[in-house]
Amino acid sequence: MTTLAPIGAAPNAGSTVKKPWGKTPDGQAVDLYVLTNRAGMEMAITTYGGAVVSLKTPDRSGKLGDVVLGYDSLEGYVNDKAYLGAIVGRYGNRIAHAQFSLDGKTYTLAKNNGENSLHGGIKGFNKAVWTAKEISTRGGPSLELSYLSKDGEEGFAGNLKVTVTYLLLDNNALRIEYSATTDKKTVVNLTNHSYFNLAGPGGDILSTVLMVEADKFTPVDAGLIPTGELRDVSGTPFDFRKPTAIGARIEQDDEQLKLGHGYDHNFVLRRAAGERAETLAARAVDPASGRVLEVWTTEPGVQLYTSNFLDGVKGKGGVTYTRRSAFCLETQHFPDSPNQAKFPSAVLSPGETYHTSTTFKFTVEK
Ligand code: BGC
Repeated sequence: MTTLAPIGAAPNAGSTVKKPWGKTPDGQAVDLYVLTNRAGMEMAITTYGGAVVSLKTPDRSGKLGDVVLGYDSLEGYVNDKAYLGAIVGRYGNRIAHAQFSLDGKTYTLAKNNGENSLHGGIKGFNKAVWTAKEISTRGGPSLELSYLSKDGEEGFAGNLKVTVTYLLLDNNALRIEYSATTDKKTVVNLTNHSYFNLAGPGGDILSTVLMVEADKFTPVDAGLIPTGELRDVSGTPFDFRKPTAIGARIEQDDEQLKLGHGYDHNFVLRRAAGERAETLAARAVDPASGRVLEVWTTEPGVQLYTSNFLDGVKGKGGVTYTRRSAFCLETQHFPDSPNQAKFPSAVLSPGETYHTSTTFKFTVEK
């Protein structure tokens, strides 16, 4: 075990501890980093898939509890099919018919979700071993992860150099900054796939009260591909503009909820045109523990996913994860943007730098 905190640092200065975490089936060494901020909030990240393995935040009495789903060991992440906590790329969410065109050239991807491509393909960024570097920032302990996605990987063009930085800020916020450059025109849509349960593991998230800053969402077809419509949320179970329990309408007889087996939809965030700073996307409150999670982002969309397809996954500490045992708020460009000219573009060209950031802010309500 190596402690990377500066020698002579005050005990409450925050720290980063690195430990070996085993090897992938093809022999690559994987590490686990445990970051602790000055307030005592703690998070573990593995270099395998850059996954957030645990995130311990205080409840209203100050007691720390783990608010994300994950696995006890590397093996769980190697076998994972649900993207627990992972970095998702090169293209988060779905691309219809696993195909898109750029400048008249058609790119064919693997169909790993019915007819479609999901979350970067068969071996997405969630299955890559990332190179980690501890970086010092004033705001709290941080870890920079980098990965080179080679030209042609999973059918995408261009050597894509990706950097994802996790900053555990001393005010109990986790900021994730994503950057990428390419040497050929390509599409990029990076996100983090943490599954949150603010009450801690074990129960469901139906009583979590959610607010989403969206007047519209993108309805989907049976393959969960957006139809292209931006539909008004008014009068639908997708209206979370006033805080509403996730479970309040999830079983309603609604075509979109049926297609998603619950919520599995992209919300169009209410952001002013040209806005570059992060704005509030969503706010979730667990009334029992008092934990509050606010999601701030520079992205135009957020995918609300109520773990509809979790079907008895063996998670940390012997807990079994089932549908509705967590919610995801995946900040993103809209699904299938490479095929939808009216959606914000996910194209990255040589000479440009992709840069997005998302902050998960944890507080409590008394
Ligand atoms: C997708 C779901 C999918 C889940 C896990 C979400 O982003 O929208 O349909 O089941 O990720 O892969």
